[in-house]
Amino acid sequence: MRAIDENTITEAALEQMASTPDPRLKQIMAALTRHLHNFAREVDLTPDEWLDGIKFLTAVGQKCTAYRQEFILLSDTLGLSSLVNALHDKRATEVGTKSSLVGPFYRQDSPTLKLGDTIVTKPTNGLEVCLYGRVFNSAGKGVPNATVQVWQPDETGNYDLQKHDPSEMDLRGTFHTDAEGRFYLRTIAPLGYMIPMDGPVGDMIRAQKRHGYRPAHIHFIIGAPGYREVVTALYLQGDEHIDSDTVFGVTASLVTGVNSKDPASPIPNLPTIKFDFHLPAAAAYGSGRVGADPSQIVKAS
Ligand SMILES: [Fe+2]
Repeated sequence: MRAIDENTITEAALEQMASTPDPRLKQIMAALTRHLHNFAREVDLTPDEWLDGIKFLTAVGQKCTAYRQEFILLSDTLGLSSLVNALHDKRATEVGTKSSLVGPFYRQDSPTLKLGDTIVTKPTNGLEVCLYGRVFNSAGKGVPNATVQVWQPDETGNYDLQKHDPSEMDLRGTFHTDAEGRFYLRTIAPLGYMIPMDGPVGDMIRAQKRHGYRPAHIHFIIGAPGYREVVTALYLQGDEHIDSDTVFGVTASLVTGVNSKDPASPIPNLPTIKFDFHLPAAAAYGSGRVGADPSQIVKAS
């Protein structure tokens, strides 16, 4: 009979889990158990504190719906989503555009639009801009017919999911590049925003005296057959939170800006936001999406 104490408990748990047939599941659960036990020992976790932790995680789960994903927000605000993205980028066999967060506001099945169309469907006071660029492969050739999904908040920093009946989509669209890999569309310049603060993650952010803001950004998922999907976002320089993103999505290579005089704009007389994307070749590993449409995560009850 083994004497279980604060140290031998870890070996006992790992021994019992050693029967796991799936080798990856076995590795992940063993490492998670070791780190959780070390964490509890390091902070000398008390029963009351762990009960608070359980209450917090319960509240995070209860906040989730088909239109709200508090667990993605928790992963994002802990920096775990960005860490998993960075590990994903490291596994690429060719250099491509860096990954950034899917975030909690992605919707699949956004409307398919033609190049030059607008993604603005509601009245707005935003600054209209032409968002354009090219999608290249690693050989520097444009990728034709690449799928470009784009979504963003409005000029007040709100997504459609936060403003309207969630079934009404606004500021989202799916485009396809032309024969040279070009895409261009009309939209408005987004504003940065505070992450949703009315749930347990907001309570955590307040307890940590963090500001809770994200700098202005536009989300993209870009893919084409034979290429690794790029899940990323563009960030607008000049935003006061560009160096202190609450969810750690910003990286230098993804920062761009609004150009008020751009003779190369495919839509004349509009300010532009331009960015070229680079798709690495497909490789035998999974999606780069740390997150999903919230409706795909919640089980129908
Ligand atoms: Fe966002």
